[in-house]
Amino acid sequence: MKKQFIAGNWKMNLTLEEARGLARKLCDGLAGFDAVDVGVFPSFVYLKDVCDIFSDSNVFVGAQNMSMEQCGAFTGEVSGAMLRDIGCTHVIIGHSERRTIYQETNSMINSKLKASLLNNLNPILCVGERQEERDADKTREVVEDQLSGGLLNLTSEEVKGLTIAYEPVWAIGTGKTATPEQANEVHAFIRNTMRSKYDDDTAQSIRIQYGGSVNAGNAKELLGQPEIDGALVGGASLDPNSFLDIVSDAASFS
Ligand code: 13P
Repeated sequence: MKKQFIAGNWKMNLTLEEARGLARKLCDGLAGFDAVDVGVFPSFVYLKDVCDIFSDSNVFVGAQNMSMEQCGAFTGEVSGAMLRDIGCTHVIIGHSERRTIYQETNSMINSKLKASLLNNLNPILCVGERQEERDADKTREVVEDQLSGGLLNLTSEEVKGLTIAYEPVWAIGTGKTATPEQANEVHAFIRNTMRSKYDDDTAQSIRIQYGGSVNAGNAKELLGQPEIDGALVGGASLDPNSFLDIVSDAASFS
């Protein structure tokens, strides 16, 4: 089995003091621990403080979004080089909230993925269908389209070691989780799609996280599925005890 990867997407939450406090608790709780890869994704404005807190730890720190551009007159944007400069190693790209609220297209996501790789950041590419798409039996079609568009012109070298997060939109922040079987089925589809786009080696090197209402009560069952290599956790990642419980559940499968 692959080393699991548990990531906490803090979204637009917390004060600076709360973000620092959460980071310190996680840093203490995870000292010397490396059975599972762990990453946290605070708001841009807290990244530097959080990077500093985790600077001597195994915990990755990343951004929730980045610019597709390198530098220049792009007011309000944050570049990959800037993220790298303050100590980030990872970045979430194509989260469904970016796709739906901020109209990010597959083509924009593709440009952002390329910009992240150019700046030596490890992207987590998010994919997932909406409720109406699942109801219309279009899950595979939607996910396939997000993968094809998002990964356009990326070589197997570039996608090797990539993290993909399968986050069904209907499960995000709703308390409605995909069943472990439902999630595993889409994960297997993602793995197969990567195998046919690239090759078996590349497909096997990719970690596929599940995201959508993951919490300390349901993580173990989800993470125990053969195609689930970790979790992208929203709400439950704001509580250090819940997040650490999820990490220790993952450790039993690494
Ligand atoms: P919740 O865990 O709050 O449902 O959020 C999932 C998510 O969007 C992580 O990126």
